[in-house]
Amino acid sequence: MPEQRQWWKEAVVYQIYPKSFNDSNGDGVGDLPGIVARLDVLKMLGVDVLWLTPIYASPEVDNGYDISDYRAIHPQFGTMADFEQLLNEAHSRGMRVIMDLVVNHTSDQHPWFIESRKSRDNPYRDYYIWRDGKNGREPNNWGGHFTQSAWSFDAATGQYYLHIFSPQQPDLNWENPAVRAEVDAIIAWWLAKGIDGFRLDAINLISKAPGLPDNAGAGRYVFAIEHFCKEPRFHTYLHELHQAAFAHHDVLTVGECADLQVADAIAISDPARGELNMAFLFEHTNYYHKVGKDAQRLKEILTRWQTGLHGRGWAGIAFNNHDQPRVVSSFGDDIRFRVETAKLFATLLLTLEGTPFLYQGEEIGMTDATYATIEEYNDVGTVNVYREQVAAGADPQVVFAAVRATSRDRGRSPYQWDATANAGFTTGSPWIGVNPNYREINLAANLADPASVFHYYRQMIALRKRTPALIYGEFIAQAAPAALYVYQRLDQGQCYQIVLNLSEQRVAYPCMGDLLIGNYAVTDQNRLQPYEARVYRLV
Ligand code: NOJ
Repeated sequence: MPEQRQWWKEAVVYQIYPKSFNDSNGDGVGDLPGIVARLDVLKMLGVDVLWLTPIYASPEVDNGYDISDYRAIHPQFGTMADFEQLLNEAHSRGMRVIMDLVVNHTSDQHPWFIESRKSRDNPYRDYYIWRDGKNGREPNNWGGHFTQSAWSFDAATGQYYLHIFSPQQPDLNWENPAVRAEVDAIIAWWLAKGIDGFRLDAINLISKAPGLPDNAGAGRYVFAIEHFCKEPRFHTYLHELHQAAFAHHDVLTVGECADLQVADAIAISDPARGELNMAFLFEHTNYYHKVGKDAQRLKEILTRWQTGLHGRGWAGIAFNNHDQPRVVSSFGDDIRFRVETAKLFATLLLTLEGTPFLYQGEEIGMTDATYATIEEYNDVGTVNVYREQVAAGADPQVVFAAVRATSRDRGRSPYQWDATANAGFTTGSPWIGVNPNYREINLAANLADPASVFHYYRQMIALRKRTPALIYGEFIAQAAPAALYVYQRLDQGQCYQIVLNLSEQRVAYPCMGDLLIGNYAVTDQNRLQPYEARVYRLV
């Protein structure tokens, strides 16, 4: 079936992590006026939609993914008037704005939870998931994302509450229709303000298996998503949400979903089912961040998703976000081939089927940041795991080495605007350390160099936009040497061939067609340089 045209399929999305983007008032934290000040350069880059990670009132235990008021802006980011100005300024430049919707859980400082924990019988008790302990322990063996157990005991009422993430992020009870009605109302409130859609956080965790059974596996706590992820009522809840909140608005909705397979993504994004526009594809990033570089595996995963979804569903494609290390550091080579690998992933991102999501900094080739001491880390996962393991007697240096290698702070360092102090991010003291390589890697240097990563992204985005085959065309993988990823995008008699060398070796391959863009000046048409990327027009 040919793909149905939609603006959100043609759009290129740019993810802003506001805390690290641009600080306008010198308090060391990025803010909304700081974003407004940089809209022109984003427009020049060619992006169409800005996704803001949470900017709501929050104690910021998990950098805003713990919301205490869904209808208020955290003062560190500015005011509601600042938000409205950002929305107007973005709209007046032809850019849309989507927000993060975090409704698997709230902050423990949200008034609902404050009420809920006061007594066993009050109207908000059932907004969350409270259970008695079993044999002096947690109600079941579920492990948490950021702590060993997914349960915390609350002495006030003698019961445990569930939190898949940190104890300050209690899970909402979606079985309660009042909770679902609250979420509908929050969405309606923001859509009435004029925003253009939502990224739905951890959305396939909202439904937990009836009876909350133990996870299989040995050990006191078992971190396995088997009973809190993809539970079938999740689709019912999403459909209800669609009917109540999204159906009459032409907005972008993208789900962040754990453990997503192609069939799940189709179920979520098939327009006939009325759930969401798309779900993020994560299988590729999950594997290479955990397992390491493996070109064959990357090709296999992407090809399976491209062919599986075409004509049946839609995905959001990203190689970077605020939870991941930067791909140029993890799959690419950020020392010897930083510019080449950054451009290679730009080529891949912008020639696949699926809405491309850029994460701030990737368009200038920013790399992972690391810090020397645990005190310099902020990620709640990093800090909690470190504390728990050290308290249990583990060697602090060994634990530090392990958490440092996985910390989400790798991709959260401040945006590198120029070579001035603090990379031009703030005149104050940044909330998290700036990557010292900012003197070399920054936007100003990128803008001044026509061969920079930024200008390559700009050209790739423009190429994608004027080439319907790169958006809607069928994806056909071509036989190629193991190190190369070669595929075509085919639409209405037009055919484009993309040739990517995923290795640092030189590889022979007979190329043909009109070369439209590439990350090297081609001297040998039939031999690819390390991490070389080319896009050809065949017919
Ligand atoms: C996914 C978000 O991307 C991540 O940053 C957050 O910690 C969890 N969901 C919990 O909200």
